[in-house]
Amino acid sequence: MSVPVLTIDGPSGSGKGTIARAVARRLGWHLLDSGALYRVLALAAERHGVDPADSTALGALARNLPVAFAESDDDTRVLLDGDDVTAIIRSETAGNAASRVAAVPEAREALLDRQRAFRQPPGLVADGRDMGTEVFPDADYKVFLTASAEERAKRRYKQLKEKGISVNIRDLAREIAERDDRDANRPVSPLRPADDAIVLDTSDMGIDEVVARVMEILGKQVETRG
Ligand code: C5P
Repeated sequence: MSVPVLTIDGPSGSGKGTIARAVARRLGWHLLDSGALYRVLALAAERHGVDPADSTALGALARNLPVAFAESDDDTRVLLDGDDVTAIIRSETAGNAASRVAAVPEAREALLDRQRAFRQPPGLVADGRDMGTEVFPDADYKVFLTASAEERAKRRYKQLKEKGISVNIRDLAREIAERDDRDANRPVSPLRPADDAIVLDTSDMGIDEVVARVMEILGKQVETRG
């Protein structure tokens, strides 16, 4: 029997990361933060002197990306070449750089196996942009989270502030809009809900409410599948 997967896709600031972590913890499943891989890849390219425009070199770097994830109770530490880069990759600059390398087909292709290797018993919650469409098209449960652009900018602002990163909300809203545009309009794996995903607009929902709704969806789909 294949290991069950729940995919949670959506644009930046839709709450995917928070919801995916909370649901994974409830279910006792593994968690894949696929965005972290693209963020680390962008940083690795910078540190290893790889020009992101050189798609072959970027693909090679992605295939051999020296990244490791260390799980703790409420966080995942991300290591690049053994160096803890968790805080560095969380900035908006890192997010923007990630969305540039993420548009390169060779890089996406090279990261596929690594992402699929996270599918381990008892189950996986996979968070990203193309989890339900490309990486785990056969996932048992698929959710696509959205929220208004204004609400997403507010959430991101709060999240960054809590992490001690200071940003201007207007710049942030503009950067989010640019990143969404790039993610949604790239030719490879553009951001879009899978045909069989359940789309949830979380603009007026709190975290607990979204988690409960996702758990309900899991329950319902489990029932329907008998
Ligand atoms: O989710 P997060 O904000 O960490 O993602 C950073 C960037 O990585 C996104 O803007 C997107 O361009 C890219 N990404 C992607 N596919 C994924 C996850 C992230 O293209 N599955």
